[in-house]
Amino acid sequence: MPSKFVTPTFSNETTQGSLPLVEGTIGPAAVDIQTLFTNHGILAFDPGFRSTASCKSAITFVDGDNGVLLYRGYPIEELAEHASFTEVVYLLMHGELPVNDQLSGFKKDLLYYSLLHDQVMSFYRGFRRDAHPMAVMVGVVGALSAFYHDSMDTQNPEDRQRAAIRLIAKMPMLAAASYTYSIGRPQRYPNSQLDYASNFLQMMFGLPYREYVVDPVLARAFDVILILHADHEQNASTSTVRLAASSGANPFACVAAGIASLWGPAHGGANEAVLKMLHEIGSVENIPKALARAKDKSDSFRLMGFGHRIYKNFDPRSRVIQVQAKKVLEHLGIDDPLLEIAMRLEEIALQDEYFVERKLYPNVDFYSGILLRAMGFPTNMFTAVFALARTTGWVSHWLELQGENHGIDRPRQLYVGSPRRSYPSKS
Ligand code: ACO
Repeated sequence: MPSKFVTPTFSNETTQGSLPLVEGTIGPAAVDIQTLFTNHGILAFDPGFRSTASCKSAITFVDGDNGVLLYRGYPIEELAEHASFTEVVYLLMHGELPVNDQLSGFKKDLLYYSLLHDQVMSFYRGFRRDAHPMAVMVGVVGALSAFYHDSMDTQNPEDRQRAAIRLIAKMPMLAAASYTYSIGRPQRYPNSQLDYASNFLQMMFGLPYREYVVDPVLARAFDVILILHADHEQNASTSTVRLAASSGANPFACVAAGIASLWGPAHGGANEAVLKMLHEIGSVENIPKALARAKDKSDSFRLMGFGHRIYKNFDPRSRVIQVQAKKVLEHLGIDDPLLEIAMRLEEIALQDEYFVERKLYPNVDFYSGILLRAMGFPTNMFTAVFALARTTGWVSHWLELQGENHGIDRPRQLYVGSPRRSYPSKS
């Protein structure tokens, strides 16, 4: 990490100079390159943004070398143990935990905006009934921008708050409907007596003719899943939302872009991929074969749920989720052979030179699939659950960005194509 007393210098045949360092509250300093092109005519080259701080943000801090994740300064382990998801939503959006009657007021707002316009339900009928829930969510969340566009002024802080709450409040019914539609079950409405997590569970699993009885162990486990996935600073989907939002685009459309980015197997789609992989491995005896494949560079197989762009140590969320997975399986009396395979796989991989050298540890997705499966979620809903939780992060970053008035984002490139040439003469 550069010391704050060192100013990075650079030179080539035509230009030379030095650049100032800027520091955040905690974490590495950053070289401020904002004037690099205007003052020196050169660009910074950082494909994949591995060394680029794309913005200032006061929401979430990740220290990947030490396995630390803080939401507004609070460690994720403490929030997962003591807070409710609704408190975490408030914290991420507003910067502080709710005090006095702020939480009850916030819950009322979330409930007030939780219903979907009945016309939105007709969008679902346009999809094939076997469509992937993420495909449906990209479409339906984007379509919400058609409902709330003319009435919203992104320059008005009150309108922004309302749009933010609408997105978070409507997402449980939107996600649940992408599942109930696929199985042909009528969609239930939010229940004013239930909290955010329980409400989603009843809309997802409740039957139209019977009262849904909330299992407190499952409800708490789901609340924890939501807390753990709520935000993770400038990941691919959040950066997508910020980039889209920098043009002043409608927030519902921006979040639809975030959902599209989250869907990929290298990001939120990994939890689904982990279960598929564990199924394929099939038994503890086959683990060495799977590990050999993961290490073989001529084979595209990767150990899903292992490795992380930022964490080069344990992902702190994976420990919390492993505890919840065991708790729920025990509570439900489920003896899942996939859990045994996962735990053995983790144990063996963490002693394997290949994984140790490359600092590949289990990430949050390694156990979340097992937990969601035990709770009754079909595999293709795993990433939709992630999207439900991450909406809070996307919305919080959207609010932060709108408050800054920082103009449209426009990355540059290192052009490696043909130099200028003339169109060939046809004669
Ligand atoms: N299995 C086998 N080898 C791996 C794995 C893995 N899961 N992950 C990384 N490696 C290897 C790479 O082949 C590379 O080896 P090399 O140095 O010999 O070429 C080395 O480790 C570094 O890999 P990178 O791809 O540079 O690591 P990066 O930080 O870019 O990738 C990523 C992170 C995409 C998450 C990767 O680890 C991966 O594909 N993991 C599996 C998918 C997954 O679990 N994604 C969920 C991420 S968490 C989330 O989105 C919530």
